[in-house]
Amino acid sequence: MTNIAILGFGVVGGGVADVITKNNDTIARKTGEHINIKYILDLREFPNHPLGDRVVHDMNIILSDPEVTVVAEMMGGAHPAYDYSRAALEAGKHVVTSNKEVVATFGAELLEIAREHHVRYLFEASVGGGIPVIRPMSSCLAANALYEVDGILNGTTNYILTQMIRAGKSFEEALAEAQAKGYAERNPAADVEGLDACRKICILSALAFGKSFSPADIHTEGITKITLDDVAAAEMYGGVIKLIGRTGLCDPDDPDSPVYMLVAPHVIAHDNPLAGVDDVFNSILVRGNAVGDVMFYGRGAGNLPTASAVVADIIDILSHKDAEIFVPGWKTAGADELCQTETLPYAFLVRMKAESRGAAVAGVRAAYPDAEILTAADDDNGTLAFVTPVTTEKALGEAFPDGVLSAVRIMP
Ligand code: HSE
Repeated sequence: MTNIAILGFGVVGGGVADVITKNNDTIARKTGEHINIKYILDLREFPNHPLGDRVVHDMNIILSDPEVTVVAEMMGGAHPAYDYSRAALEAGKHVVTSNKEVVATFGAELLEIAREHHVRYLFEASVGGGIPVIRPMSSCLAANALYEVDGILNGTTNYILTQMIRAGKSFEEALAEAQAKGYAERNPAADVEGLDACRKICILSALAFGKSFSPADIHTEGITKITLDDVAAAEMYGGVIKLIGRTGLCDPDDPDSPVYMLVAPHVIAHDNPLAGVDDVFNSILVRGNAVGDVMFYGRGAGNLPTASAVVADIIDILSHKDAEIFVPGWKTAGADELCQTETLPYAFLVRMKAESRGAAVAGVRAAYPDAEILTAADDDNGTLAFVTPVTTEKALGEAFPDGVLSAVRIMP
């Protein structure tokens, strides 16, 4: 029997306990032993929960118990989750986590500490909820030089956008539903402002390119400025708006090239498979120089899907107990190793004020002779929607110094 400790008994921590309790015999058939949840660390008491007697409030009880070999951290937030994870690794305990903030910010350091102490730091649940993506990227695609990763990485914003587009719900109503379903972060600003997706693309970028960038250095836009007029303009173009995390090599043929990375709403053409990824589902497209394109798809948030990934990491540890596993290192990288987002090649879906359609069209044509005007002449409501040819954010800003109503990147 393997003794574990759960840190944080919220949505995901509770889900991990449920999955272990329900599937313990199945897990034992696969690994040869059952999992015993010896401790649950939380500030609260859970007197009515069947595992309520395992609750402790002092991390030192867990750290000093040699019977505990695996710590599952689902606390959320950077501190004390990082501090407890580090202490557990230093105490020779394996750590598994769903905490993207800790992995994105401290992953390079914690992987190094795990290596030094001959234990493992696993974080399958930190990206894509229940979707197996971390392990496939680091193992199954290991033969490839990867050069691009694009994904719908936040279930809450995808749920909100889908409900707004398909069911005509308001932003607030859809967000409240996502919160009730346990998808949203404790502070949902991290979802709707793009920070959660930013942390996840930082993790995927580090896996793909071995460079760990600080989320603070990444161009990050959320969905709060997206309006139903933008949604309608995207439909005129032939697509839908999705919040996308993108990262890749600036020179796809040079694995040492600088990296680009951003999180922003993108127009996705209907014939792109990402356009059909709705509600809480996430999807991640990985491009490698041998395999070509690989897509991962599944539930990106929610207690049981995320718990499924956490428990899979625990099972991985149980299945390789005596093996020294090679852990690829992540090099901490600075903003100077990132390509400037404002110079990335992109076409844009633009909406601008047009008191006079003729003057607005002439202005667009002067800047971009090949621009595609989307707003029909008989649909003149004082705005003009158009698509630029491939340009840059910088050039677009220079072409329209007085600003535009919105400019949404179009997924290449
Ligand atoms: N708040 C996150 C989301 C949870 O909505 O995707 C899963 O990481």
